[in-house]
Amino acid sequence: MTKNYQKIIEEENFYNSKLFPKKDILFSRGKGALLYDVNGNEYLDCVGGHGVMNIGHSHPKYIEKIQHQVEELLLVPQGYPVEERYKLLKTLAEITPKPLSQTFLSNSGTESIEAAIKLVLAANRDIKNPEIIAFKRSFHGRTLGSLALTYTMKYRKAFISWLSPHVKWASFGDIESVKELVNENTVAVFIEMIQGEGGVYPASESFIKELKELCENGDLILVDDEVQTGFGRTGKMFAYEHYNIIPDVICMAKGIAGGLPMGATISSSELFDKMMIGEHNTTFGGNPLCCAAANAVIDIIRSENLVKNAEKKGKELIKAFKRLAEDEAKRIREVRGIGLMIGIDYRMKIKNLLKKAQEMKLLLLNAGLTTLRLIPPLVIDDQQVDKIIKIIQQL
Ligand SMILES: Cc1ncc(COP(=O)(O)O)c(C=O)c1O
Repeated sequence: MTKNYQKIIEEENFYNSKLFPKKDILFSRGKGALLYDVNGNEYLDCVGGHGVMNIGHSHPKYIEKIQHQVEELLLVPQGYPVEERYKLLKTLAEITPKPLSQTFLSNSGTESIEAAIKLVLAANRDIKNPEIIAFKRSFHGRTLGSLALTYTMKYRKAFISWLSPHVKWASFGDIESVKELVNENTVAVFIEMIQGEGGVYPASESFIKELKELCENGDLILVDDEVQTGFGRTGKMFAYEHYNIIPDVICMAKGIAGGLPMGATISSSELFDKMMIGEHNTTFGGNPLCCAAANAVIDIIRSENLVKNAEKKGKELIKAFKRLAEDEAKRIREVRGIGLMIGIDYRMKIKNLLKKAQEMKLLLLNAGLTTLRLIPPLVIDDQQVDKIIKIIQQL
């Protein structure tokens, strides 16, 4: 037992901003889908850094790449081309559909959304009070622009006087509710095709198809928030691929750089040409270290078939949880999800279940008060899948 275990937890609690309720585990290292505390206890990680650790913890190829980059060059501003950034921009253009070929690199999910908001506003300078449609239950971030598009009142309430009144809320899955909001001021629709924080709700194919048609016919920009769903999470490289449509803008972050901070906003040159030099920028965005990290992540996802693994393991888990939901219909309302983005919706608050799972060395996340959420590294193996199922059956 590390002598300082409790002291470190208490002092982190004391000196921290109090915005994060702290767990009572002190992790010191990770490997694949496993985390170890300072006493060597092993935990199966279905939190995955809130959906960041798609390639798992401490992947040797990733470590080698970032170690090399640290020794070579950490930062030059985006105005100076560097090889790792060029490679990443080119790869992002390759793994997203035409005409999405241009990327603005930033440092987080919320920044990728902020850039998209400015992009759609810049593209509609002629409209005096441009409106954006977002969805009930959505989560797009916590800075003031992205927060204006985030539905949950708990996150918004204190800041509402500074949030744009030009956001209109449609019901997720209900195309009529979107149509009712469209008027001559509407410029864009922001959507998570599989809502994450809101409770793990995949959109239906027909809804996304109709939404795309509506955007095309009404000259609205369709912004796809892939911050949580991107980079293999749902059993496709990106969630829009499940729906056979091409969005106008894609926002990415979380899994993109394997744990280093990065956001990316991808669109066409036609849209990016509407923004003027200096209207948006970031000091740290696109630094060579994070670009090298993202290049390693994409290489690993491709060479280790992690997208396929996410699809396969996700199917197994969802099948097992659906069976459990049938057996325990009095406790479990519904199982939702796709790939390795899974929610088990209970008919009760799940706080104690999270605690119990942690005692059994399984780390789970919530989505709202009643949904257990699993967003593990995409490298999980058969044994780990069995272990997750067994523990969840015992909760
Ligand atoms: C769909 C979605 N968009 C945006 C964000 C914000 O990302 P970040 O926390 O990196 O700012 C999140 C974070 O959970 C998210 O899930």
